Amino acid sequence: MSENTTEIIAALDLESLADEQALLDKLHGVVRFFKVGLRLFTAHGRRAVELVHRAGGEVFLDLKLHDIPQTVAHAVQEAQKMGVASLSLHTLGGLDMLRAAAEVRPRPKLWGVTVLTSFSDADVAAIFPHMSAHTLALHLAQTAKAARLDGIICSGHEVRPLRKALGEDPCFIVPGIRPEGHAVHDQKRVVTPAQAVELGIRFAVVGRPITHDPEPRNAAMAVLAEIRNARLKG
Ligand code: C5P
Repeated sequence: MSENTTEIIAALDLESLADEQALLDKLHGVVRFFKVGLRLFTAHGRRAVELVHRAGGEVFLDLKLHDIPQTVAHAVQEAQKMGVASLSLHTLGGLDMLRAAAEVRPRPKLWGVTVLTSFSDADVAAIFPHMSAHTLALHLAQTAKAARLDGIICSGHEVRPLRKALGEDPCFIVPGIRPEGHAVHDQKRVVTPAQAVELGIRFAVVGRPITHDPEPRNAAMAVLAEIRNARLKG
């Protein structure tokens, strides 16, 4: 598959391994990339990762690591031992932490979270006065670039300005994906699957639009159809 196409990562934000297995079965042959995040990993650890591997999928381990450099570098080594394809770090951990992680060899792809898609400008300004989500994401993406991370996690709203400012075409991973008319839940900076394609996003992370649907396979196929149609139009 081309490195330029938008692919979906289904977020397995579920309670039990049984729920995880059921969803993996339903999405078999439709989705290849799966996100194991804080809920499943806190509850079930590496077993949650192993289920995806046994189903033939690839794992994005979304732990948003943020700690002192040595601790994070060790966690990257452990993630490598689990065989995950990618792992997230929080870029607020700073340049030394990101560099320590990036220097681990071998290691999974490292993707830097900038500003959570659940943050509005007001939420950002409440912590960093006078900063917008956009300005903060830009600072953090520049830090991720300096540390030579493999991808930037941001909202679709920042992709164009970040691409322009960074002066190259980073791999963008974007959560907060909502098909038109779909509930946004706690997400505040969302884009549609079609917009993800127009923006040249590499990975669109899709959780509740799939997991909350009574027919997750159909929901995933609908997102993929929207992506395909947008690609044909573009
Ligand atoms: O259900 P929904 O589609 O909103 O799920 C988005 C997923 O992406 C969640 O698992 C969330 O933890 C994750 N995520 C995010 N914003 C980021 C990074 C990850 O929403 N910046």
